[in-house]
Amino acid sequence: MSYEGLRVLITGSTRGIGKAAAQAFLERGARVAINGRRAEDVAATIAELGGANMIAAPGDMASAKACSKLVWGAIEGLGGLDVLVNNAGVFDSGPVVDVSEETYDWMMDINVKGVFFCSKAAIPELRRNKGSIVMTASESGLSGNKDTALYCTSKGAVVNMTRALAHDLAPDIRVNAVCPGAVMTDMVTGGGEPGDLTEMENFSPMKRIGTPKEIGEAICFLADPTQKFMTGALLAVDGGSTACR
Ligand SMILES: NC(=O)c1ccc[n+]([C@@H]2O[C@H](COP(=O)([O-])OP(=O)(O)OC[C@H]3O[C@@H](n4cnc5c(N)ncnc54)[C@H](O)[C@@H]3O)[C@@H](O)[C@H]2O)c1
Repeated sequence: MSYEGLRVLITGSTRGIGKAAAQAFLERGARVAINGRRAEDVAATIAELGGANMIAAPGDMASAKACSKLVWGAIEGLGGLDVLVNNAGVFDSGPVVDVSEETYDWMMDINVKGVFFCSKAAIPELRRNKGSIVMTASESGLSGNKDTALYCTSKGAVVNMTRALAHDLAPDIRVNAVCPGAVMTDMVTGGGEPGDLTEMENFSPMKRIGTPKEIGEAICFLADPTQKFMTGALLAVDGGSTACR
């Protein structure tokens, strides 16, 4: 079992894709640091996932200082780190002319700056352990989707950060990204009953929205320690929508 004892930090793992990824790693025998902004959400997620083989690493990853603190908390709690999953992210949509500087800073701080500085903080430990980084990017980082210029800007940055870090950190640390299409999480439903999702479902040739589990499994695959030659890879898990545009 290649995942047995693997020490994994997943940012934004209190719900959605991050929680599904935590579940996938746990099922394979890994140990996981659960992160979210609020300590009570982190504790609730750990309890929900059964409590075993997890530690709490709460923290808001919107500042470089907080990123260092949460990464070092995870390293201390797990006794080291083999995999960093940069998954936490936020979404907003609307015409570019309506985007305020405040919204721009909020999204770029979480989706780009946090990813950059969590990676930076984890590099010495990942290098020591010949570990890997997995980014949750997006199909919106591979193409320019309508009325989401800010989100596309942030995920495009994550895509190219993946390539640049893969180059910089080889051969010690592998860096790969999953690029999901629409996935049924709070990000799509707004945390409540989803409205009419027909347009979103019809966007991909598969004519449906993905599940968090499908993306969690893909994240796990990218982190598989036996995949020693795979780095700088962008894995679209989007029902074929990127391939068909
Ligand atoms: N759901 C989709 O359709 C979709 C598609 C493509 C990519 N993604 C990406 O997948 C990732 C996970 O999104 P999701 O769909 O599970 O959304 P979600 O809203 O259900 O979960 C987001 C997670 O990030 C955490 N988070 C947000 N801001 C944070 C901060 N400042 N510090 C720490 N944690 C923070 C939240 O607490 C939560 O755990 C994001 O990067 C998102 O951009 C989602």
